[in-house]
Amino acid sequence: MKYKGIIFDLDGVICSTDEYHYLAWKALADRLEIPFDRERNNLLRGVSRMASLDIILEKAEKTYTADEKAAFAEEKNDLYRQLLRRMTPDDLPDDVKTALDALRKAGLKLAIGSSSKNTPFILEQIGLGSFFDAVADGNCITHSKPHPEVFLKAAEMLGLAPKDCLVVEDAHAGVKAAVAGGFDCAAVGDARDDMRAAYHLDRLTQLIPVI
Ligand code: BG6
Ligand code: MG
Repeated sequence: MKYKGIIFDLDGVICSTDEYHYLAWKALADRLEIPFDRERNNLLRGVSRMASLDIILEKAEKTYTADEKAAFAEEKNDLYRQLLRRMTPDDLPDDVKTALDALRKAGLKLAIGSSSKNTPFILEQIGLGSFFDAVADGNCITHSKPHPEVFLKAAEMLGLAPKDCLVVEDAHAGVKAAVAGGFDCAAVGDARDDMRAAYHLDRLTQLIPVI
């Protein structure tokens, strides 16, 4: 086999939380009268909560203190978590479930490498709370993607070198992070055509012949 482990981004790869992120940021932006739409929401893919807030506030007419920003991030996250409560194992797409089961059966170690601090909550909601061999997320890193820290951490938790792991990403920031960390990357979704990726996939079951 070409790889010993696979590190999956969570949001946009394993499950779709885009709409919930969008709705929660949009509610905050509307309240602050800051222009925000789905196109700008795309810029937040893979980016940490506070870095996302900074991108949103670029369009604000006034500047905010660190305390105000912390309160805005909390407000967004409270609403986002209310929306996440709607998620169930039915939000795990069949293709993703089939791919995960086949890759595990093939003997690969499987990990999550996500910028999200809500990773444990989301995994519980979709029924994968104890599925992965390692989970590296926004709670255990100091540098968000495009820095490779979260993927390096996941590889270390699996006991594997980056060259033995494939990263699966839907964000350009995540593809950049993977390559910077010395990983091959399979790009899906929004980042599918990112030229830095080694593979360009339409769905996760296409990983099976790759490995
Ligand atoms: C990433 C998402 O997975 O997690 C980003 O793509 C999000 O949009 C980031 O900002 C941080 O998420 P959270 O759940 O910690 O606010
Ligand atoms: Mg993602």
